[in-house]
Amino acid sequence: LQAKPLAGHTVLMTAGPTYEPIDPVRGITNISSGKMGYALARALALAGAKVQLISGPVALPVPYGVERIDVQTAREMHQAVMQRVGQARIFIGVAAVADFRPLDVAADKIKKTGDGLTLNLTRNPDILAEVASLPAAPFCVGFAAESQNLDTYASGKLQAKRLQLVVGNLVQDGMGGDTNQVVLFDAAGSHPLPRASKTEVATGIVAHLAKMLEV
Ligand code: C5P
Repeated sequence: LQAKPLAGHTVLMTAGPTYEPIDPVRGITNISSGKMGYALARALALAGAKVQLISGPVALPVPYGVERIDVQTAREMHQAVMQRVGQARIFIGVAAVADFRPLDVAADKIKKTGDGLTLNLTRNPDILAEVASLPAAPFCVGFAAESQNLDTYASGKLQAKRLQLVVGNLVQDGMGGDTNQVVLFDAAGSHPLPRASKTEVATGIVAHLAKMLEV
């Protein structure tokens, strides 16, 4: 077994949620602790890769040997990725990117007048799909957190977003906790990994990735 199977590889990745402001004190976000992404960043660095981690707001320390770039919104994450993707051999989208953002961000705190509040939302860019469709696209890995029909949705994502690998998990299996159970989907089929700590799952993903890059 090679000790540093990803030596010389540059990995660009995203992790954590994005935060889309409504006004100076409120926003919308997705639920994501960032733990899986950070565990993966660390495992990649241990495997010898040069890792740049574009991170949404999380309460986690920077993994040893990883360069972290902090962002808040999906558009900031998108910009940070696009600036750096030209140098990356591998792109891994782990972030739970908010699919929608408020169309207008109020400059001042919105006051409670009337009974309700209607927010107009607009689509955020799909960072992973855009990276995967670049003419010189890196090797692209996506994550699929689903609440049901994991096989169908995850393998659908592999094709729809033109990815080389999708890491699927049922949200009830991994969210917020320290263990996870995932299934890897690639052109050859599906490969379930045993339930394990996020650190061990990350090592399993890196081993699979290294094998795919070898051929
Ligand atoms: O289509 P769906 O959002 O479920 O796909 C999830 C995958 O796509 C994840 O890898 C996620 O990081 C990435 N993604 C992205 N930008 C978005 C939405 C999802 O990079 N706006």
